[in-house]
Amino acid sequence: MASALFSNPLDLLAMNEPFFTKADFGTDFKWGVATAAYQIEGAWNVDGKGPSVWDHMTHKRPGKIKNKHNGDVACDFYNRYHDDLPLIKEMNFQVFRFSIAWTRIFPTGTGTPNQKGVDFYHRVIDRCLELGIEPWITIYHWDLPQALEDKGGWASRDIVKWFSKFTEFITKEYGSKVKNWMVLNEPMAFTAVGYFAGVHAPGYIAPQKFLRAVHYTTMVQAEGGRIIRKNVPDAYIGTTLSCSPVKPKGKGHEKAAHRSDILLNRLYIEPLLGMGYPTEGFKFLEGIKRYIEPGDMKKVTFDFDFIGLQNYTQTVVKKFILPYVWLLEEKAKNRGISPDKITEMGWEVYPEGIYQIIKQFAAYKNLPPIIITENGAAFKDRVENGRVHDKQRVEFYQQYLENVLKAKKEGVDIRGYFAWSFMDNFEWAEGYGPRFGIVHVDYKTQKRTIKDSGLWFKEFLAQ
Ligand code: FCB
Repeated sequence: MASALFSNPLDLLAMNEPFFTKADFGTDFKWGVATAAYQIEGAWNVDGKGPSVWDHMTHKRPGKIKNKHNGDVACDFYNRYHDDLPLIKEMNFQVFRFSIAWTRIFPTGTGTPNQKGVDFYHRVIDRCLELGIEPWITIYHWDLPQALEDKGGWASRDIVKWFSKFTEFITKEYGSKVKNWMVLNEPMAFTAVGYFAGVHAPGYIAPQKFLRAVHYTTMVQAEGGRIIRKNVPDAYIGTTLSCSPVKPKGKGHEKAAHRSDILLNRLYIEPLLGMGYPTEGFKFLEGIKRYIEPGDMKKVTFDFDFIGLQNYTQTVVKKFILPYVWLLEEKAKNRGISPDKITEMGWEVYPEGIYQIIKQFAAYKNLPPIIITENGAAFKDRVENGRVHDKQRVEFYQQYLENVLKAKKEGVDIRGYFAWSFMDNFEWAEGYGPRFGIVHVDYKTQKRTIKDSGLWFKEFLAQ
């Protein structure tokens, strides 16, 4: 691929241009950038917005977040969306994936909608449409209203009712303009990391709450799909799942790998597909049966139009004395992985992993088509003379895309790929340290700079 942008031929050589083109993915393939409300919007208490679990945790227990960072201002997208969205167009992406902050719409989770919050997302959607960008909405990307957490949150069966009301409202409100919807972002992450590991909001280490949360979340996952279908009959409907190929550290660690695979990859997809919970060989998880009521296992199924897979790395595990799960992840740095193959999150760059996990999911008999709704990497970035030469990220995208294409060529029905993330943002418990954007954000000035990775996509997608 010729490159005018990398006008210095050495740039090009250094870039290791890939052996594929946009056309290889097909003309209907969707190319997008992904974000989440809490990570970019800021304006945490503006225009009637109520506090979410993330506002609560970052304010009341700041020590839980690296450098005591919070999302109060973030990328100030709430005030800057008008000028930010054209950057997506400039990089030649056609999809903007974003989430709706529940507490902008219902400040205490239920009750009367807050018109100013409702209007904000109309403005974002309208701006997308005006630019020719497709808005893809994630209904829930981790920012539960704190008022609902106070009533039990995801560990309360009432979440199905609360979530349904929210979904009813937003699908009716935006459904005439928005035709692409995702119910949840990574349920495994917010239930396990939020209710079991205590690292994300609401920050509990409560195994029984976790089990309840898993069951109610699978119910919400399917019920959300049904509500969208009812209110937006011509919608394209999906939900997203975190996933990662799991390997045992070596001989003797296979059972730990099996349990880890259940947790990381199987727990949310199998009930959805009507296969029940994958509890075999996992005593603790069998406890979930306590929370299942008659008829529930039918209610947790839904025929989605697509499944969003989100992959960043592979996971190597060993058996360990950690109660309930009896396993521990063996971090990349302890596995002799060279430092240039480890991201700022401590995750190994492992491009074959995305191919492996796509194939693992594709092996389910009745899996809907796949969209990669997140993939990306955090590296140390520096702005130098108005440019960010994020060569490692360019290579990351090229290598992961090559593996997505490999699976597609082998016949897996993959219909799109979204980069995480549109811009650098608040990376949850890690604060603003890890930068995942293909657009750099200077948090002091809020200046945006398209990184070389964004420029690479611009060229690649221009074909
Ligand atoms: C995913 C989340 C997303 C972002 C990336 C790095 O698990 O969905 O919000 O934090 O990881």
